[in-house]
Amino acid sequence: MPEKFSPPDQEGGRGPQLRIEPLAALHLDQVIAIEQASFSQPWRRQLFEAEIVFPKALCLAALLSPGHILVGYLIMWVVVDEAQIQNIAVHPAFRGLGVGRSLLERGLGQARERGATWASLEVRPSNLAARRLYASLGFVEQGRRPRYYQPEGEDALLLNLRLDYRQPA
Ligand SMILES: CC(C)(COP(=O)(O)OP(=O)(O)OC[C@H]1O[C@@H](n2cnc3c(N)ncnc32)[C@H](O)[C@@H]1OP(=O)(O)O)[C@@H](O)C(=O)NCCC(=O)NCCS
Repeated sequence: MPEKFSPPDQEGGRGPQLRIEPLAALHLDQVIAIEQASFSQPWRRQLFEAEIVFPKALCLAALLSPGHILVGYLIMWVVVDEAQIQNIAVHPAFRGLGVGRSLLERGLGQARERGATWASLEVRPSNLAARRLYASLGFVEQGRRPRYYQPEGEDALLLNLRLDYRQPA
């Protein structure tokens, strides 16, 4: 098992460095490859093209330096006080190394700066890796949408996270 990446944008670490940057059109070939490797019903390129220019969308890329290899991405909408996680995926060869967590931590931090006080997402009950990641960030189950994912008919779990809660010192 390779070592986890150093926290993003931290100077002086050994080995490859992870950087989190705004997702841009030049990343989309790599995004599409990861999307197709990650989902049974991948988003099409036009949807990503629309997201990166949509003012309510917060779109982040996880890039490995040197080389600027795109290893993951996050698409989130910030609608009034709610951060809605629309899409997150990490290249299969780079999973389990902290990329997904880094994307979400950065994205949720930026959503908070834009005024979000809570975050929401849907996840398949069978997606244990994603559920553990969300649970480790504090997301809690709020409900279930029956047969949300088609054509399989799998339910969606609805998860929420308070962003305005501060641990007492
Ligand atoms: C879900 C996904 C984004 C996680 O990204 P990742 O970079 O592999 O996750 P991280 O390395 O940051 O892991 C963070 C935490 O998630 C959990 N986790 C990640 N992979 C896991 C796995 N295979 N099994 C169990 N838990 C896992 C762990 O709690 C981990 O924390 P830990 O390493 O301290 O134990 C990635 O697996 C993926 O792209 N999956 C396909 C697309 C997808 O399902 N997207 C979510 C749709 S709702």
